[in-house]
Amino acid sequence: MRLILLGPPGAGKGTQAKLLKEKFKIPQISTGDILRNAVKNNTALGVQADSFMAAGQLVPDDVVIGLIKERIKRDDCDPGFILDGFPRTIVQADKLSETLEAMNLALDRVVDLEVDPEEVINRLTGRSTCSECGGMFHEESRKPKVAHVCDCCGGALAQRQDDNKATILKRLDVYQESTAPLKEFYKKQGNLGTVSAKGSVEEIFSRICELVT
Ligand code: AP5
Repeated sequence: MRLILLGPPGAGKGTQAKLLKEKFKIPQISTGDILRNAVKNNTALGVQADSFMAAGQLVPDDVVIGLIKERIKRDDCDPGFILDGFPRTIVQADKLSETLEAMNLALDRVVDLEVDPEEVINRLTGRSTCSECGGMFHEESRKPKVAHVCDCCGGALAQRQDDNKATILKRLDVYQESTAPLKEFYKKQGNLGTVSAKGSVEEIFSRICELVT
């Protein structure tokens, strides 16, 4: 199964991708996670991406397209994959279509997670992430048992550098301008499905499963 999760920052793409990964035994490919790891490890990619990410801007298309082309050709993607945070522009979507066509593959579903901006701001300003395993928490909806400590691995929890209100608002603008047009793009291709991303994580997960199976 080859899926794309679309949706604004904080829609729950990462949260739902992790659950889908477990259920369907296919990898979650998050360009945001790949780029954050590169920044953390101070690689050439990280140095290139850092200032864009900190400012809430998109990293240049050619950088992320190269990453995805290489990643989806790996053996673990043979049974399928979940793209979380890619594509984000029409150029990225076109290149993905070209790459899949050249591999004789097709997308099964593009799931658009709909959520309003007020909810996004609440989710992102309250989010903390484990620096070790990437586990995600929220100060209201998913509190860690011990403050600032990951329930899963004991790692330290930290707020993402782009989860402050000013940068969240910038990310929402960038989403409207560059990524929202992808809904029309995939609607025309006939594989867009829309899911309300309001409600509990479990409720949203079951809506997505209904759509993709
Ligand atoms: P990326 O990491 O992709 O961030 P994003 O799209 O802004 O999305 P988030 O990770 O913030 O949110 P999410 O939708 O995954 O929600 P989550 O599940 O975490 O990208 C970051 C940056 O990298 C970009 O700004 C850009 O610079 C760069 N980048 C990445 N990909 C790129 C690309 N393709 N091209 C160019 N640049 C790229 O949930 C959020 C919070 O809400 C959590 O605390 C969670 O616990 C909570 N939550 C989740 N679901 C619920 C629920 N149902 N109810 C209550 N709380 C919930």
